[in-house]
Amino acid sequence: MTSDSPKLIDGMGRTIVNLRVSVTDRCNFRCTYCMPADNVEFMDRSNLLTFEEIHRVVTVASSLGINRIRLTGGEPLMRKDLPTLIKMINEVEGINDVALTTNAFFLNDQAQSLHDAGLKRLNVSLDALDPEKFRDVNRRDCLKAVLEGLDTARKVGFKSIKINAVAVRNFSESEIMGLIEYGRSDGFEVRFIEFMPLDSDKVWERDKVLFGHEIVELIKEKYELVPVDNSLEIGPASEYTFADGKGKIGIITAVSNPFCDHCNRIRMTADGKLRTCLFSTDETNLKEMIRSGDSNQKIAETIRQAVLVKEPGHKINLDDFERPDRAMHAIGG
Ligand code: GTP
Ligand code: 5AD
Ligand code: SF4
Repeated sequence: MTSDSPKLIDGMGRTIVNLRVSVTDRCNFRCTYCMPADNVEFMDRSNLLTFEEIHRVVTVASSLGINRIRLTGGEPLMRKDLPTLIKMINEVEGINDVALTTNAFFLNDQAQSLHDAGLKRLNVSLDALDPEKFRDVNRRDCLKAVLEGLDTARKVGFKSIKINAVAVRNFSESEIMGLIEYGRSDGFEVRFIEFMPLDSDKVWERDKVLFGHEIVELIKEKYELVPVDNSLEIGPASEYTFADGKGKIGIITAVSNPFCDHCNRIRMTADGKLRTCLFSTDETNLKEMIRSGDSNQKIAETIRQAVLVKEPGHKINLDDFERPDRAMHAIGG
């Protein structure tokens, strides 16, 4: 296959259309499942790809068949002038979906300009509606700002706003129904994500994962759920609507029933390393290629070669599982 081929296909026949771009590893929160409480070592700013460099990678990736971009972090809204980057990416031929994953703290201020820049879809991290539990898990007393941010974003009129809650045993159980009621009343799809071994503190263990099937059982005690047929749209979540017709939820069984066989995504870290899996232990240094003057064609061929050996899946459930060196905030959510 040559680099003019419009499809990016890996060694297992999976077609890759989705690139997640982290724009910073910095964050104003310190979620326990992601970052340490303090003394975080952040990337030197000179190592962050500039908007022009990100735009270049997106342009090359789109020539290979990538058509969806999700901006992640750290907290992407800590990167100055993000709407400018969104506009630049939206103008790349072949990119038809630009989305953002955020903790919502800065949304009250930025939702309108993000929307004006062409952002259509937002995923917001929110693990607890009880202020004390919020503070316990996010290590910041910021629930009010997050809820205000969500409210502003709702009024601005994004096409889709989803809420991501990481599901941790002996913590999340009491929050599930409240989050669901909130999502149903305000029009947000709430998704519960099984806690994965990507926390900087390395406290993850299987016993700390609240499994997707347990969450479904809990919800079913109150509501009848109807599974959504997602066979045409590949995503990480199994979705359900409520039999009463009001709202939708998602369950991301990243540990107990991974979606790796259908994975259509690759990622780039804020310092320009291409990762073909969330759990990759190898990276491809695109920043070095860009900064040493390599051509778009060479970068395209490098991406294609990296994708060819994309990991079949993560090994969380196997004895030879190896944690990646980077925690979630440095990979990109
Ligand atoms: P949309 O389908 O566009 O809404 O995107 P998404 O569901 O991929 O977006 P989001 O960033 O909200 O992802 C939800 C969560 O799923 C992430 O925060 C991760 O916890 C998890 N996740 C995302 N990508 C991967 C992946 O490649 N592998 C695994 N195991 N988990 C992932
Ligand atoms: N396990 C599962 N999801 C995680 N996230 C961060 N760390 C983890 C983890 N260890 C998710 C959060 C957030 C996104 C950035 O990544 O839900 O939405
Ligand atoms: Fe920040 Fe997101 Fe990590 Fe929480 S999960 S510390 S919001 S990067």
